[in-house]
Amino acid sequence: MSTVTCIAPVNIAVIKYWGKRDETLILPANDSISASLDTDQLCAKTTVMASPNFKEDQIWLNGQKEDIRNPRLQNCLAECIMLFLVRKRAGNVTQIGQWKVHICSENNFPTAAGLASSAAGYACLIASLANLYEIKGDISSIARVGSGSACRSVLGGFVKWSMGSLSDGTDSIAKQIAPPTHWPEMRVLILVVNDAKKKFPSSVGMKRTMETSDLLKHRIKHVVPERVNKMERAIMEKDFKTFAEHTMKDSNQMHAVCLDSYPPFTYMNEISHVLVDLVHLYNEAVNDTKVAYTFDAGPNATLYLLEENTPEFMGVLDYFFPPLEDTLVEYKKGLPIEAAKPSKSLLNKINAKQQSPGRFKYIIYTQIGDGPKVLEDS
Ligand code: DP6
Repeated sequence: MSTVTCIAPVNIAVIKYWGKRDETLILPANDSISASLDTDQLCAKTTVMASPNFKEDQIWLNGQKEDIRNPRLQNCLAECIMLFLVRKRAGNVTQIGQWKVHICSENNFPTAAGLASSAAGYACLIASLANLYEIKGDISSIARVGSGSACRSVLGGFVKWSMGSLSDGTDSIAKQIAPPTHWPEMRVLILVVNDAKKKFPSSVGMKRTMETSDLLKHRIKHVVPERVNKMERAIMEKDFKTFAEHTMKDSNQMHAVCLDSYPPFTYMNEISHVLVDLVHLYNEAVNDTKVAYTFDAGPNATLYLLEENTPEFMGVLDYFFPPLEDTLVEYKKGLPIEAAKPSKSLLNKINAKQQSPGRFKYIIYTQIGDGPKVLEDS
């Protein structure tokens, strides 16, 4: 028997992937850029065992046994395709390549955190299988077949996924722009508004947007290419203002193309929008751009901000979104941080008291981190 265990990070895009040029190969309609988050706070952990005694491939997700062949199970097909691809890619299909595998995958954060975990999960599966089958070189194109955004989680730091132009997708791969050590001051706050399951899966949403949105055509052709260049430069130069502006604009445009789809659909809710207003009011009040928000296919916010600005903004958050008794505040046991009481004059400038924003269920404070790591090998 051969066993490998890996962990892999969650990644949060600052230039969003929204729309596919090829649905089967999962080839995106535009380039995207993300940051991989520290695995201490958030990660997927996968163990893959291969044995001549196993009768069939099997998979357990978060402790629950799933039927790998059941076509109704989400991503089942992708798992099988990936297993096949990984084995084929291994080339020297020796004995181990013939053995059936048992896969056990879980997250180190509760599903109640309502975070998209499929990117970390698929990246982790592929990293484990690649290690088991001794696959060298790029593995992002294999992870991509499981879930597009997963290809960015096979690397740490800031990562760019190029859409590529070839029809077989061989040039649609992810590459690191900068390691996590490049911008060590960068911090991330994840504010979980809602932990319910996605009401509209992103793959279904993307398809509808591709088919019906005129704004998406404009985005793909006239907005993203230039924005990707500016974002890469902002990251290399550690220019937070430019980084933040494009992060927010790109999130807004992704949600705008969802609304421009026909029929339209939305992911953000009232609390998400109040938070957007608060970030802009805060940036205006401090006469700078100190905080950036971004939203994926759900109402939960991810905020990018620098360490030096975090205590003040957390004080502002506590003031306008007082934590509930049972709010799970992960930052208290994560990185060291204390919210600073905001000054009266700052609160007066923000002056958003009239809004009744609601609450967060879960807050995570983290930073940029490494790519997948092998934990044990036997
Ligand atoms: C909103 O990677 O989940 O998070 O390729 O269909 O599995 P599939 O989609 P998925 O889409 C993620 C979209 C996003 C934006 C992003 O991460 O870039």
